[in-house]
Amino acid sequence: MDLINLKPKITALVSNSQGLDATLQSVCELLKASVPYYDWVGFYFKNGTKNELKLAQYTGEETEHTIIPFGKGICGQVAVSNENFVVQDVSEQENYISCGWKVKSEIVIPIFVNEKNIGQIDIDSHTANIFTEKDELLLEYICKKIALILN
Ligand code: SME
Repeated sequence: MDLINLKPKITALVSNSQGLDATLQSVCELLKASVPYYDWVGFYFKNGTKNELKLAQYTGEETEHTIIPFGKGICGQVAVSNENFVVQDVSEQENYISCGWKVKSEIVIPIFVNEKNIGQIDIDSHTANIFTEKDELLLEYICKKIALILN
């Protein structure tokens, strides 16, 4: 699967949005079904006025990490850094929240609405050293599309 082929599918999902929740769920499912090394795909958003992230839609194994304080784990770090975070080997990260022994690598891309970091897409893989710039570019594209329906 060439990741670039997913862009029109994402565009279609977002423009024919059946409501935010259904669209986010469809994006998770499309990504997990299309990319063999995407083993868990989910969205976290800032939880109201609290400095924490709350899990929204996801697909993959259930996780107990439904609330993540800002600064904690890969997700919490992205909430404060406002930057993409690609971890090729999670065992080398000290500030990491494990979602199971199978996960070897992780990518988190922030979502900006009116230049504010309001959430993120988080993807776990059971394969180490698997993410490339192509994943970052696709996921940045998706985050920008989703920002349009969050606005
Ligand atoms: N590994 C993440 C926690 C969320 S799970 O991947 C679903 C982290 O370190 O923030």
